This record gives sequence, C-alpha cells and structure tokens, in this order.
Amino acid sequence: MSEQISLFDLAPEPQTKKSRAKPAESIVPHVVYEDLGRLSAEAKSCQKCPLASTRLNVVVERGSRNAAIMIIGEGPGQNEDETGLPFVGRSGELLDKILASVQLGEQEVYICNIVKCRPPENRVPTEQEAAACKPYLLEQIRLVDPKIILLTGATAVRGITGDKRGITKIRGEWMSWEGRWVMPIFHPAYLLRNQSRAEGSPKSLMWQDIKAVKAKYEELLGILSG
Ligand code: URA
Repeated sequence: MSEQISLFDLAPEPQTKKSRAKPAESIVPHVVYEDLGRLSAEAKSCQKCPLASTRLNVVVERGSRNAAIMIIGEGPGQNEDETGLPFVGRSGELLDKILASVQLGEQEVYICNIVKCRPPENRVPTEQEAAACKPYLLEQIRLVDPKIILLTGATAVRGITGDKRGITKIRGEWMSWEGRWVMPIFHPAYLLRNQSRAEGSPKSLMWQDIKAVKAKYEELLGILSG
C-alpha cells in the first residue's frame, strides 16, 4: 500500500468541466496534528459541541491510514457509538459488501464521518456540530491524503463541498475538490430502504458508481506505474 501511495503522489489533478462544487472553506485546518494517532487521542476527549454529553464513544476512523480512497459518512449510529468504529451496523455491512464487489477492502479505504459523535435519535447533525468537528475531518484528509473521496449522502456532500443539490442529482458525478477526485454516492442506509435492483434503481446506480470508482482507482495506479 505504501508503494502505491508514493506512485499516487504523482497523480494528475482532476479537471472536470462538469463540476459545480466549490470548497466550503479553505482546506487550511484550524489545528494541525502531527499524525492520526494524536488526532484520534485528542478527538476522544473532545468537548467542542453538545454531542459530547450524549455519546458513548468518539468514532474516528476505520480502514487504512495510507488508503488512496477515503469514504466520508454522516455520523455514527447506535452500533458505531457502542463500538467506537464507523460504519459497523447494517449500513456498514452493506458498504463493505459494495466495496468487496469491486475487490476493495480495509486495505484500500479509510472510513470516517462528518461528525464523530452520535447525534441523539440518529438525527442529521446540525451545522454547528458539523462545523465544530470539521477541523478534525480536514486534518484526517490532509494526513491520509486520499486521491479519491467518496461522500455518502447529502450531509457528507454539504459538509465537504458546500453543494446543496440533492444526492439523486449529483451521485456518480466526479468533482474536483482541493486537488482530489470526489464523488457523491448514495448513503447505504438509503439503499437499505430501496431494495429494488431494477435498472435505474438506487442499487443499480450504486453498482454503476462503485465500478466507476474502481476504474478511476485503477486508472490512477495504472498511469503512474507505467
Ligand atoms: N451512517 C453513517 O453515516 N456513518 C456511520 O458511521 C454509520 C452509519
């Protein structure tokens, strides 16, 4: 994996004509961490927003800290709150299956969320909660340095790119954000509620999108390894 990353360092930056995404703010983080271990240690005692008073665990990360693909979700649910790991409930199981269908696993991806503490009743995090958590996320992006970022669902898209369009409009569209390839995809929870596999269904579109992600991943590797 570390060899792949050094190859990726030479990857061309995305230049998509279609992209309408604008950075929500500068990538320059408010706090700089030396490494992900320190970031995680500090996040685990975070008191920057009211979610600190209801959480069981702070949910920072899962997967490889050297991954070329980062997946960003909305926020922890009950299983994640209990275990301290992102995407380990039903949505996480489905996400893992989707990734496995194109031979991607924990070695190739790094998984995290817009907020690191569970919002009560699994409600959508408020803008204030997302803003309080954002310095951690920006640092995770800087330190992992993924070439591809997948944003699962509208909250993740809004939190990173500021794009407020509905997810059905923009899923599958490559965007350029801070020199990285970014693709909004459906949230796995949405797929759990929409089980049809018919052509044009959310599940069939997800299959299309994950194949495009794998192709981009291989293209970036291929270009650089000659
Ligand atoms: N949904 C998310 O967005 N993130 C998780 O970690 C789990 C469920």
